[in-house]
Amino acid sequence: MSSVAIIGGTGLTSLQGLQIINREIIQTPYGEPSGILVRGNYCGHEVMFLPRHGPGHTIPPHMVNYRANIWALKEVGVTNVVAVNAVGGIRPDIEPGVLVIPNQIIDYTWGRTNTYFEDRVNQVVHVDFTEPYCASLRRNLVDGAEQAGLAVVDGGTYGATQGPRLETTAEIDRLERDGCDIVGMTGMPEAVLARELELCYASVSLVVNRAAGRGNGEISMTEIEQYLHSGITDVRKLLEHAIPLI
Ligand code: HPA
Repeated sequence: MSSVAIIGGTGLTSLQGLQIINREIIQTPYGEPSGILVRGNYCGHEVMFLPRHGPGHTIPPHMVNYRANIWALKEVGVTNVVAVNAVGGIRPDIEPGVLVIPNQIIDYTWGRTNTYFEDRVNQVVHVDFTEPYCASLRRNLVDGAEQAGLAVVDGGTYGATQGPRLETTAEIDRLERDGCDIVGMTGMPEAVLARELELCYASVSLVVNRAAGRGNGEISMTEIEQYLHSGITDVRKLLEHAIPLI
């Protein structure tokens, strides 16, 4: 089996059921990752776990050291990265509670360091990003969800916004015109950095609210927390079924 990592997002700062083997503090040329990497046994398979926002959920999306996180995972021998992302639903049928395995990305983030190839490179590198997610890993996630009896949306465009604030209605209107189905703050540059280091990368996006202007009035944090709480149980079920397939 190839070595698998799970990057936990909002609501998944620890992985229940992970039998810890060891914890690894990794220093990278790009600084420190969001936390200590936890190696453990999850449903009979070895995985690395890294909470994207830090163990106490203190690092906001625009401050995550994405380069250090991805570098650290590569350093410890990971080849497949399952990213868990909380998102807002833009498409009307993508309601809170739904799981999406996106297949495309539009990047609206700015000011985040989004490459390893910036200085002292021997030659300019342009990685191919036609298909931003790894097809085989996406398949494993969709199959895992189906085996677990979970409703899953196979495909969709993830609009990555800068945050940390939520969007305006006009911004979501624009994202919808652009073809985005879901919106989140952590999908980029994580996905492209994984591609630059030749890691197989895919996302389990958990919808925790209707995007701005798509629900009734303001986005309620209480509602987000409720959907996070119930949805994370489904994410865990999906992972339990998908990881053995990887
Ligand atoms: N917008 C951006 N990021 C998010 C949202 C949203 O509505 N919900 C969860 N993460």
